[in-house]
Amino acid sequence: MSTIGQTKRITPAQIEAMKGTRPIVSLTAYTTPIARLLDPHCDLLLIGDSLGMVLYGMESTVGVTLEMMIAHGQGVMRGAKKACVIVDLPFGSYQESKEQAFRNAARILKETGCNGVKLEGGEEMAETVAFLTHRGVPVFGHVGLMPQLINTTGGYRSLGRSDKEADKIRLDAKAIAEAGAFAIVVEGTVEPLAREITQSIAVPTIGIGASAACDGQILVSDDMLGLFNDFKPRFVKHFAELAPVISKAAEAYAEEVKARTFPGAEHIFQVKK
Ligand code: KIV
Repeated sequence: MSTIGQTKRITPAQIEAMKGTRPIVSLTAYTTPIARLLDPHCDLLLIGDSLGMVLYGMESTVGVTLEMMIAHGQGVMRGAKKACVIVDLPFGSYQESKEQAFRNAARILKETGCNGVKLEGGEEMAETVAFLTHRGVPVFGHVGLMPQLINTTGGYRSLGRSDKEADKIRLDAKAIAEAGAFAIVVEGTVEPLAREITQSIAVPTIGIGASAACDGQILVSDDMLGLFNDFKPRFVKHFAELAPVISKAAEAYAEEVKARTFPGAEHIFQVKK
């Protein structure tokens, strides 16, 4: 098959090689139409397990299943042509053993065609990361605030102020980088520590709530698009305010339906005489 004229997708190895060149642009995407819109502007699109909260109204990411991740991964792959596409391994699909992690990561790669998987965890997951990367699965790490651990850590808050917390995040990032991750999300981490980690590991750090000192940034796309009126943590910037736009459109539609002004003549199929 000829590949002439096809746009090549950015690979995890290319993302890794971007360290020290320019900031890496990443966003989450969960559906085909949004992936189509974000793809031209992003180096990496993540089907984050945040979809459980963002799309399904769950209270945490713990209830997200492998099937949900695969279905949304397939959707994003249909819309994204250029960006490196990574799918989150959801809670319970990789922590049991490195074999379980490989089995489920392989399913994600085969059934979505994406470029790699992301998993949360530090030193305790290093063996699993090495096992996957040595067997052909590119791994995006995730340290600092780890939402899948909400039931044991007890809350969403920024980390790294105490020596104990900082030491743990430092060691976690080092272990995951040395195990072969091509890049690492650093979430909810104070700026001096995020900077220090970025300068001390060989692979790119992608920050969310971890300052501009990281090698790249990621946000949940629905957050940065302003789709939630009632959720705006300090680390989120609204680059648009879509919630009121959608509310106003729904209100206008309802009014026109009730007044029978929609559909108008231009929206109606007539029988030609
Ligand atoms: O699940 C997710 O969307 C994430 C990003 C916020 C990094 O892990």
